[in-house]
Amino acid sequence: MKRAVCPGSFDPVTHGHLDVIGRAAALFDEVVVAVGVNPSKSRLFGPEERVDMITRAVADLPSVRVEGFTGLVTDFCREQDAVAIVKGLRSSSDFDYELPMAHMNTALTQVETVFLPTSTGQSFVSSSLVKEVAAFGGDVAAFLPGFVHEALLARLAERR
Ligand code: PNS
Repeated sequence: MKRAVCPGSFDPVTHGHLDVIGRAAALFDEVVVAVGVNPSKSRLFGPEERVDMITRAVADLPSVRVEGFTGLVTDFCREQDAVAIVKGLRSSSDFDYELPMAHMNTALTQVETVFLPTSTGQSFVSSSLVKEVAAFGGDVAAFLPGFVHEALLARLAERR
């Protein structure tokens, strides 16, 4: 049984994340999507909301489950008996950001990091860009599951 962890903040989950999660599910026996809970970072959606949204979005992938985690991703991997961390790469700047973390995580626990290039249609999609465009009234429906898009618009309306 080879288990992988897909960590992220997923605030909120996008089609870009789901592309990487689905492709990780095709490579590993089981995938645990690990939703980072960091109380010092302000997020648009709370940890339970983020976990619930991804759980709904991956309901058609039986080998994928979703958990919140705090602390080091390597400790979470050890708890879950995961052999790999899977990260999506959209660009060379993602690679520059991710490579030192991959080296650190291997130094801490020998867990491997597997980088998957995001599908070409998703390479410009990020949660932060989607939130910014939506906050200024831009149409981001194409980049999110429908129910996530609705939740995003509702949350932004509440914040206005
Ligand atoms: O979607 P993000 O914001 O890129 O996800 C960030 C996340 C949660 C994957 C990252 O912050 C993380 O791994 N946090 C856990 C703390 C940790 O292990 N830090 C050391 C990394 S070498």
